[in-house]
Amino acid sequence: MSIIDFMRVKKVCIIFGGKSVEHEISIISANSILNNINKTKYKIFGIYITKDGVFCEATPSINRKSSEYKFKISRQKIVLLSNQKNKNLLILKGSKIEAKINIDVFFPIIHGTGGEDGSIQGLLELVNKPYVGCGVESSSICMNKILSKKLVSQQSIPTTAFHSFGKEEWRTSESSLIRKILEDIGLPCFVKASNLGSSVGIYRVATTKELKSRIKDGFKFANELLVEEAVLQPEEVEVSILEKNNIITTVPGRIIPSDEFYSYKAKYIDGKSEIEIPYQRASSNPALMKRIKILSSKVFTVLQCSGMARIDFLYGRTTRKKKPALYFSEINTIPGFTEISMFPKLLNNEGITLEATIEALIKNSESKQRKKEKLVTDFL
Ligand SMILES: Nc1ncnc2c1ncn2[C@@H]1O[C@H](COP(=O)(O)OP(=O)(O)O)[C@@H](O)[C@H]1O
Ligand SMILES: [Mg+2]
Repeated sequence: MSIIDFMRVKKVCIIFGGKSVEHEISIISANSILNNINKTKYKIFGIYITKDGVFCEATPSINRKSSEYKFKISRQKIVLLSNQKNKNLLILKGSKIEAKINIDVFFPIIHGTGGEDGSIQGLLELVNKPYVGCGVESSSICMNKILSKKLVSQQSIPTTAFHSFGKEEWRTSESSLIRKILEDIGLPCFVKASNLGSSVGIYRVATTKELKSRIKDGFKFANELLVEEAVLQPEEVEVSILEKNNIITTVPGRIIPSDEFYSYKAKYIDGKSEIEIPYQRASSNPALMKRIKILSSKVFTVLQCSGMARIDFLYGRTTRKKKPALYFSEINTIPGFTEISMFPKLLNNEGITLEATIEALIKNSESKQRKKEKLVTDFL
């Protein structure tokens, strides 16, 4: 790297929106990154993916009165990604190429489907430029609640008891599956679509009748379902991880949902859920604090994450285990970056600003790319 290369302003492209139930949250996360990124070091470009999957140009604009930045979306300008050297982003107006730009780092901030599941990461692999966050395999495994739970539980990280099955197995073996669920998991339990987010396709079930009907509902959202033991009146515990030279694991925070569980309504609609930082039970119990941190970094390593993740646990008792315990619940590889999101709040509590977080993520993506480029790809 030459000194000129080192000093020049880098072009960072934020990719947001997407064909996901979390589309609107992604827009807020993208604007939050735009407002907090160091603009003397980085020049910002944007790709907005519409709800139908069209890639459009998004450009930063500033409100002179409030000094707030916001992405302005041009739906008539289509963006193409290419792996040609020095012009990996093409902007089209009609059939005419209006601009050719060379982006240095891509920053995908699409939560859920299409953004957090390895799809966009696969596209960026082919563009052959650094991109922020987890790679293809890690993203898709982390997004899949069945695969991630299977891998994590194999490494003695505690999870609640669970079973998974597909549509075909349900069609041919409904009664034996119900029997197995009642025997091994019991009621109440949770029925979950394997790969969504925002509590979509997630049901708390208390009776056998409800179990059957919710499994049918779940199959409207996914071809594979997970049924797991419920933690009773759980404490919802979240930890942020950031790779900044080495892996930083924050102290945990707790979400106190406003609904029976942390449902879509409690997450986004009524605005009444509360956040406790740090998680009080862990603050007054050093052994629990240590355990939460160790388990979080273990999950991050086992699932081969890079850059960042938010790791969620549930603490409480279950019908079968009366003693309260900590259970790994899920991992989010593109967590919310909004003002009220737990991910930046937990880092902030450690003295790491959103600006420093963004900087660390960009640096991490560059070092990951350098390591990738050193690998042998042609041995003949
Ligand atoms: N086993 C469980 N016991 C108790 N509550 C649960 C359990 N699994 C999920 N929940 C509740 O459902 C919410 C959403 O489930 P989660 O697996 O985190 O899905 P999502 O990816 O949609 O956030 C959790 O935040 C929690 O409130
Ligand atoms: Mg969750």
